[in-house]
Amino acid sequence: MTQMKVHIKSFGCQMNRLDTALVRSSLQQVGLCLTDSVKDADIVLINTCSVREHAEQRVISHLGHLKHIRKSRPDIVVGVIGCMAQRLGEKLLEHEAVDIVCGPTQIPQIAKLVADIFVSRKKEIAVTEKILKKTTQKQNLALEEFESVFSREDENIPGQAYVRVMRGCNNFCTYCIVPYVRGPEVCRPPGAIIEQIKRLADNGIKQVTLLGQTVNSYEYKQGEKTWSLADLLAAASDIDGIEWLKFVTSYPSEEFFDDIMHIMAASEKVCSYLHIPAQSGSDKILRAMNRRYDSRQYLELLERAREIVPGIAIAGDFIVGFPGETEEDFRATVELTKKAEYRNAFIFKYSPRPDTSADKKLPDTVPAEIKQKRNVELLAVQEKISERLSRNFLGKQVKVMVEGLSKKSHIDSTGGNPQLVARTATDYIVVFNGPESLAGHFVEVKIINTSPLTLFGELVHEY
Ligand code: SAH
Ligand code: SF4
Ligand code: F3S
Repeated sequence: MTQMKVHIKSFGCQMNRLDTALVRSSLQQVGLCLTDSVKDADIVLINTCSVREHAEQRVISHLGHLKHIRKSRPDIVVGVIGCMAQRLGEKLLEHEAVDIVCGPTQIPQIAKLVADIFVSRKKEIAVTEKILKKTTQKQNLALEEFESVFSREDENIPGQAYVRVMRGCNNFCTYCIVPYVRGPEVCRPPGAIIEQIKRLADNGIKQVTLLGQTVNSYEYKQGEKTWSLADLLAAASDIDGIEWLKFVTSYPSEEFFDDIMHIMAASEKVCSYLHIPAQSGSDKILRAMNRRYDSRQYLELLERAREIVPGIAIAGDFIVGFPGETEEDFRATVELTKKAEYRNAFIFKYSPRPDTSADKKLPDTVPAEIKQKRNVELLAVQEKISERLSRNFLGKQVKVMVEGLSKKSHIDSTGGNPQLVARTATDYIVVFNGPESLAGHFVEVKIINTSPLTLFGELVHEY
């Protein structure tokens, strides 16, 4: 019998990409092989995101495409995994193209679900009934085992891996679907996390990014000791082979903040990069979002981060057009953006998510044109700041981790080498020409040109 081929596509955040990596290696272990092409695949899995309506629409249109493919290949098996699978459950199963629906908590069962369907040819579903309830001990154990056994390097970035330190989220920001699809917060045991990083390092991983929805609030009590993210970073810094440690995403909170900044300053391995979304600069909107800080406290945290870690790069997220956001509220966001001096900010238009408290209680009052206008204006404000910060790199040499071929031009005008994409410790994107074999390695690059979001360099030497 020829080997079954599986194609997996990720539509979501880093958490989602990590799940994809785990699912891939679990399916490889049961003898399936991977393919980049949907056309060659016997099984197609899509790992989905529900954070904004647009993310879900992309999945729905992809399913339309798969429905079409199935007309000529009726045997192909299609599975929807991830956050949208959990949110829509049965409803997704009604889709003509869908055979399997599997939520994020059920991914350890994915190989079994796939095997079952080849025998029974009946649609299969595995999601959590009451997702807001505490995850059961059994589920936690299954996820723990899955996580540690199948942890691998990221599929697109050699030499790098994501390691989850916590699952779920308890924050219930009023706009956010994540607690409803990923369930309550569970912090993983520090021993398991550190062992996992050691194993990754033994397999050649050089950069590890610790993941959590509010990664800085990681807390694990073990006997007398309470482990924080700072303790995890300190322990991971001692692991030979690991050279860079990053962590995302941080929630603006006092708890453990200084400890984390101090380990960042003290450890050469912990990268001076902090992704800490403000979401809005208006205190009224922050309250309506159920964010537990005001703009002054937020800016104070950034100030402290910069005091403790000179040269730290800070990134943020904003939602524009949240219900009730007036022109004045938006001005406060613009002001905060200017003061925060982000190296980069991700700006999203508010998208009501079913069942969240904002959607239930607050009508989506800001018209689409205004959301769009505010989005464009805030991007322009941020672009100026990013441009200025990028320009500081002109003429300087920086150490970067090479990710691989850049998506755009692969041609070198001087002949020979393709364009590569890399990142600095502070998460700036750097492109330069060099041999593809550098992917997954550290190199030194001299910056010769800059744009707001990209630095352009020349290879100086390899490490
Ligand atoms: N846990 C992280 C990020 C979660 S989702 C945190 O708390 O920072 C990533 C980003 O998507 C959020 O920071 C927010 O800016 C945006 N987002 C979440 N829900 C949204 C919604 N309903 N509409 C628009 N943007 C949203
Ligand atoms: Fe969503 Fe808020 Fe949790 Fe982030 S902290 S995942 S925005 S509920
Ligand atoms: Fe990530 Fe989207 Fe789920 S942002 S956690 S894949 S809803």
